[in-house]
Amino acid sequence: MKTAVVTGGAAGIGAEIVRLLAENGYRVGILDVDPQAVATACAPYPNAVAMPADVTDEAAVAAAFDRLEGAPDLVVNNAGIVRFGKLADQTVADFRKVIEINLVGVYIVTREAVRRMAPRGSGHVIGLTSINAYGPGPGSGAYPAAKCGVKQLIKQFALEYGDQGLRFNSIAPGFIVGGMSAPIYADPKVRAARSAGVPLGRLGTPADIANAVLFLDGEGAGYITGHDLVIDGGVSHAVLRNLPRE
Ligand SMILES: NC(=O)c1ccc[n+]([C@@H]2O[C@H](COP(=O)([O-])OP(=O)(O)OC[C@H]3O[C@@H](n4cnc5c(N)ncnc54)[C@H](O)[C@@H]3O)[C@@H](O)[C@H]2O)c1
Repeated sequence: MKTAVVTGGAAGIGAEIVRLLAENGYRVGILDVDPQAVATACAPYPNAVAMPADVTDEAAVAAAFDRLEGAPDLVVNNAGIVRFGKLADQTVADFRKVIEINLVGVYIVTREAVRRMAPRGSGHVIGLTSINAYGPGPGSGAYPAAKCGVKQLIKQFALEYGDQGLRFNSIAPGFIVGGMSAPIYADPKVRAARSAGVPLGRLGTPADIANAVLFLDGEGAGYITGHDLVIDGGVSHAVLRNLPRE
């Protein structure tokens, strides 16, 4: 049985990743910041391991990994936050918080995973980036910079630890209905306008992202490393879609 750790696994996209991995025979460790939320998220899965920790706290992350028996086979760096607002209106504390959780947290968790996986000579780490790693969004604050950083950090790990049997990839979700974006899509007008901008004609779901995790961790993807897989219905390639033609 493979063991996977999902950070931010107590809610949103992370909870769906946990569900799909458990359904596919993984033993799942749920690493999230609130111990009560972690306990609740673990309840449906008899083999789940509760790993309460803040991803920015090195000691807490190490203690959470100690709760597993041995090194995990897969670690999904899914925990993340966004602070909306134009850059000049934000505080340095807002900016730091987003970089700290979204980027430094991925470094802390991935470093912990590598230290445990490398002696065994196998393992896979996935990061969650965003289409904001490719383009800024109005009022997105430090988020695009943080996600661009995650994309490159994962590639750096892939370069340095491939010869020890480890793979590292990331997934860049587009417009996802769920998780941190759920409030945005509560407005039907926003929902319709954003759907219309997607070449595939619909918004994405947490299941679209969980399926990509399963694919990247599968046998058939064994030669893929250092890759950022964009899952966005084509929206990030659609800049010329409404170009006027005679
Ligand atoms: N929802 C979207 O539209 C979307 C789009 C692109 C990328 N993403 C990325 O997908 C990932 C999941 O997002 P979501 O929409 O499910 O968000 P969410 O807010 O629903 O869930 C995030 C989870 O991370 C946890 N978390 C936050 N800070 C933490 C910390 N310091 N330590 C441990 N856990 C912490 C939260 O408790 C929560 O369970 C994020 O990395 C996000 O940036 C989401």
